[in-house]
Amino acid sequence: MHTTTLQVADYNLFVGDNIWAEFQDFLTLKNYKQFFFLVDENTKKSCLTRFFNKFPAENAHVIEIQSGEIAKNIDTCQHIWSELMHHSADRRTSVLINLGGGVIGDMGGFCAATFKRGIPFIQMPTTLLSQVDSSIGGKLGIDFGHVKNSVGVFANPQAVFILPAFLETLSEREIRSGFAEIVKHALIADNTSWKQLQKIENLSDVNWQEYLVPSLKIKKSIVEIDPFERGLRKALNFGHTIGHALESMALRTPQPLTHGEAIAIGMVCEAFLSNKNHHLSSGELSEIVVFFKKFYPKYNVQAFDFQDIMHLIYNDKKNETASEINFSFLPTIGNVSINQTASLEAIQESLNFYTKVCS
Ligand SMILES: NC(=O)c1ccc[n+]([C@@H]2O[C@H](COP(=O)([O-])OP(=O)(O)OC[C@H]3O[C@@H](n4cnc5c(N)ncnc54)[C@H](O)[C@@H]3O)[C@@H](O)[C@H]2O)c1
Repeated sequence: MHTTTLQVADYNLFVGDNIWAEFQDFLTLKNYKQFFFLVDENTKKSCLTRFFNKFPAENAHVIEIQSGEIAKNIDTCQHIWSELMHHSADRRTSVLINLGGGVIGDMGGFCAATFKRGIPFIQMPTTLLSQVDSSIGGKLGIDFGHVKNSVGVFANPQAVFILPAFLETLSEREIRSGFAEIVKHALIADNTSWKQLQKIENLSDVNWQEYLVPSLKIKKSIVEIDPFERGLRKALNFGHTIGHALESMALRTPQPLTHGEAIAIGMVCEAFLSNKNHHLSSGELSEIVVFFKKFYPKYNVQAFDFQDIMHLIYNDKKNETASEINFSFLPTIGNVSINQTASLEAIQESLNFYTKVCS
């Protein structure tokens, strides 16, 4: 398939499996002299090997970290900064290439943006979630004190190179996780894409490039208008107010949810609230329920203490005041209303609704 180039703010996104020429031209144009690849054990094995013969090996350094959310912390940052320091990375001639999922992209970007007050970095996302969501929009950071993404900055990469071929080695569960963000983009902004998504029968047969580009265009259009999440960008939080709390709760159990699995449940609950308070029709609500039941396993949310869920929801950084919970709801599929709220009783009802319709 051909390459698609999208400009976001002051950087370009290149999407396609034949973007090596663009990648090499870009590095030459920027005149970088030192290349740092940030990888974990999985992307080292599955993705870094694709660079062999395509990249000048001299002055290339590989920084390897442990995979997973568990490593997204200040200790790992210290390791990354030490490596950059050890090889005298600088602002003018060095570049950090973040080759991995959202953890590598968020943390590598954060380390680059803060090292010597900011060295250049490139995002090369390798999971569906990072290709469609986390690698654009400039949000970078790490977890701190058990709170996800609580320390970070906004900073843009030099460019983003998205190769759908990287997804060939990704597990079905991680594909499903990223798919939830594609679905979210359609639900909040594009009824036509929603109709397309409903035609998918099996996630293993999908040509992802076809779905990545329209989805990226939606995220691009939102983050360009509101880069610092002061207004419209909150639209991207649909499903995340309840979803994030469930993700955190599940992390404490032997059955953790992936980010996408958690926000899929969140989207069912928040679609219910949209129907209850904000005119999403019952027909569209049931389309949403049928869709998520097709792709996502059921999860026992009733095992969680409701007070604990509410504690997490109240402490979410999406809320502007401590007493009011901030939601983004769907008035119809393809449209979104930001700065909405719901009562405790309605949130409890939405979890009961999920249990009833998805179990
Ligand atoms: N910055 C943002 O706007 C934003 C948005 C959404 C999520 N996030 C963050 O993204 C993170 C989640 O990202 P994720 O879902 O990509 O998880 P991840 O980065 O943990 O990757 C998931 C797993 O897939 C492996 N992997 C990556 N690419 C692979 C490949 N091509 N083949 C085989 N295995 C591969 C990784 O090693 C890891 O084990 C969270 O920390 C979340 O906070 C950030």
